[in-house]
Amino acid sequence: MSTVAALYPQHLAELQRRTEQALARGGFDHLVVPSGTLHYQVFDDRDYPYAVNPQFKAWLPLTRAPGSWLIVTPGQKPKLVFLQPFDYWHVVPSAPSGYWVDHFDIVVIRTADEARQHLPDAARSAILGEPQSALGDYAPNNPPAVVNYLEFHRAYKTAYEIEMMRQATRIGVRAHRAAERAFRAGASEFGIHLVYCQAAAQDANDLPYNNIIALNEHGAVLHYTERDRLPPGELRSFLIDAGASHDGYACDITRTYAADAGSEFQAMIDAVDAAQRAMCDQVRAGPDYRQIHVDAHLALAGILRDFGVIRVSPEAALATGVSSAFFPHGIGHGIGLQVHDVAGFAASDDGGTIAKPEGHPYLRLTRELGAGMAVTIEPGVYFIDMLLDEVKKNGHADSIDWTRVETFKPFGGIRIEDDVVCTEGEPINLTREGFAEAA
Ligand code: GLY
Ligand code: MN
Ligand code: MN
Repeated sequence: MSTVAALYPQHLAELQRRTEQALARGGFDHLVVPSGTLHYQVFDDRDYPYAVNPQFKAWLPLTRAPGSWLIVTPGQKPKLVFLQPFDYWHVVPSAPSGYWVDHFDIVVIRTADEARQHLPDAARSAILGEPQSALGDYAPNNPPAVVNYLEFHRAYKTAYEIEMMRQATRIGVRAHRAAERAFRAGASEFGIHLVYCQAAAQDANDLPYNNIIALNEHGAVLHYTERDRLPPGELRSFLIDAGASHDGYACDITRTYAADAGSEFQAMIDAVDAAQRAMCDQVRAGPDYRQIHVDAHLALAGILRDFGVIRVSPEAALATGVSSAFFPHGIGHGIGLQVHDVAGFAASDDGGTIAKPEGHPYLRLTRELGAGMAVTIEPGVYFIDMLLDEVKKNGHADSIDWTRVETFKPFGGIRIEDDVVCTEGEPINLTREGFAEAA
């Protein structure tokens, strides 16, 4: 039996336990989850890429099954109403098979509307989904008490989920290695992207997010997704933020490379890499993720000072906002079924919000870390004109050595990102594990 197959029953039992609690909180008898529908472009018959409802794929590894429904009633075997239409225009979803099917009562339907007769009383059901999944007046109600409970606890991954993320990581690492080779061989951004997709055996729509493939200055655009068709005249640096999916689970990996291994930019990459490893080691049960974020500012400002880019202490750089000009995003986020997993700010399973630290609007996770949580750790240092201009406007120009900024600007920026699982003991760094395994 494969590892995921062996771990699946315990995963399912945990979801059933959570669902029982969530339904009790909301006063419902059933959890009903539509898998989602196809969406069409306005005034057109062209559909957008289908994205399965995360509440659906949490239960079973089906990511291409629009029009299906899941029904969970405490004390009963979960039921899958599976849409397998008669359709000769498209490939229809194949009949359910695999390690998970025996855990469900499965009903196959041939038209979307047929699902209606298999669904429990709407008034007694928490129906979680998009409005478009409604079948007539049988419509998602998304009760906050149920959604909050499930989303809060989804931060804590089961062993099955960690294994799924490990599988996603293996694919991502394989593709990252191929992308690095393509960079060193002089490929364009678009060419590197194609090499990545081929090595992952995933189309752009299969990936958990849009690949960021940035050469030279493009590394300074945080979400650079343009992909030049031609290689630049001179190759200096390569920042790649690219993930992979495995049956609905994501990995999110960033690496930065210098064309010249002896360059000062490579030395700065090495310094960020060492600092990033230390940050990953902070992913332990108990600490507040916000503290990792603030500590990251101090560590990165220390690197900038060591390289002569800033002239002030890390503490002063943090206090004046100078560190934010170079590191303008959060240290990371939860990850799992979604690359930016839900409930990053949840104060409890009952609702409430944990505020972001003042002056750090882009942090996506403010919760205390606990065993089972999977998060990214992605410090970055960038040379972004717009933000550096702000430093000048705010009267802190003297904090920066502008000739050093000019030295590094042609390289864009550095980001190193790993996916790390918090445990009761040593953190599990899925990404470093994956690269070590593939070495
Ligand atoms: N790839 C998007 C992110 O790192 O959050
Ligand atoms: Mn990320
Ligand atoms: Mn990323």
